[in-house]
This record gives sequence, C-alpha cells and structure tokens, in this order.
Amino acid sequence: IVSSTLVVAIDGPSGSGKSSTSRGVAAALGLRYLDTGAMFRAMTWAMLRDRVDVHDAGAVGAHAATPRLTSGTDPDGPTITVDGEDVSAAIRLPDVTAAVSPVSAVPEVRARLLELQREVIGDGGIVVEGRDIGSVVWPQAPVKVYLTADPSARALRRAAEEGGADLAATEQSLLARDKIDSGRATAPLTMPAGAHHIDTTPYTLDEVIGLVVALVEAVEARS
Ligand code: DC
Repeated sequence: IVSSTLVVAIDGPSGSGKSSTSRGVAAALGLRYLDTGAMFRAMTWAMLRDRVDVHDAGAVGAHAATPRLTSGTDPDGPTITVDGEDVSAAIRLPDVTAAVSPVSAVPEVRARLLELQREVIGDGGIVVEGRDIGSVVWPQAPVKVYLTADPSARALRRAAEEGGADLAATEQSLLARDKIDSGRATAPLTMPAGAHHIDTTPYTLDEVIGLVVALVEAVEARS
C-alpha cells in the first residue's frame, strides 16, 4: 500500500519501455497515470490541424495557448482530447511523430504544458512519464526512475508497436528524435539528479515493472 500523495517520475528516451512500464507500475500500485509525451503529441496534432508551420518556432509559440487539452489518467485506458475530440489514436500517426520534436522544443509550448501537467498531478497519487518530469516538472518526486535501452532494442519495440515498421528506419528516427530532445535549450532529456537508472535491454516488461514497484515500496517503507 503506497501513500495517496505519491508521485513517481519516469523519464527516458522513446522505446526505452517508459509507457508500458509506467502504466504497469500505476496499475500495480493503484495510482493514476499521466503520459506527458501524449500531451506534446496532442499539441503537435493541433498545430498540424490548424496548418501552423511546425518548423516556425515563432508561429508555434504564438499558437501554443489555443488548443484545449484534457488528459484521462486511467492506466488501463489513458485518453487525450483536443477541443473535445479524442485524439488518442491520431497522435501516434507518423505525421505527428515526425513533427513532435520541433514543437516540443518551443518554450511557449513547454510552459503551457508544464502548467497543465502540474494541474493534473495536483495532490499526487500518480505515475508520470516523460523526458523532464524528474528534472523540471516535479523535481520533488520521492521516486525518480530513468529508463534506457540499447538503440536496437528500442527500435525493435517501437517497430513492433507500429505494426512491423522498417527496423533500420525506425532506429534512425528514434536517434534523430533523441538528438533534438537531448539538445534543446529548454528542459532537455537528461537523467535527473537522484534518479535510479535502469537499462531495460536485458529485462522483460514484467521484470522492469517489478523492479520499479520494488523501488517504490523500498522508498515508501523508509518514509
Ligand atoms: O514519449 P513520446 O515518444 O510519446 O514523446 C513524444 C515527444 O514529446 C518526444 O520526442 C519529446 C516530447 N516530450 C518532451 O519534450 N517532454 C516530455 N516530458 C515528454 C515528451
């Protein structure tokens, strides 16, 4: 049994197993779940819908306050809407994936979503996954996890999720996004201070969930 105000921050690059792990941990511990990557994707979907040039940071910044986003936090069925429209499936399409890194690098986008993320986290009781949760969004989280995996393992998982996409192309696209996500000036992907690093390459999903749950229980037992 974990504290009802607990916040678990899970960061890492795409394909590290973040989403499946975070949902599994939330379900196992009876916590809510927030996928902040889905919020950046939803913002990107809105930019594309509204014909904003995603490579024009000024235009993206000026539009960042416009879309109305809501995030459902059930780990067994997370949802996200833009202006009332459910975009859970649409935000996984290749056009959004290709545009999400430049949109995520725009400071006005990050500021807007930071506010929404902190609102959803509220009094806690939640597992939050992203790139900057332990470093920027909720640095006071009592449990911080940083997940990584070998690029080839990440590409294999992502390609399987995307229904057998080309492996080499998937790895190239992952590495290109890593580069933008780690190199941007505002809240880059980084291992936060105090995070537990888990390289998931040799483990199954259930093993990684078990490792994180054990970590949470150890921290809770000490507090
Ligand atoms: O986790 P994901 O692949 O769905 O995330 C999509 C993009 O969103 C990712 O390339 C970078 C961005 N992102 C971010 O900048 N900060 C976060 N906390 C989460 C995601």
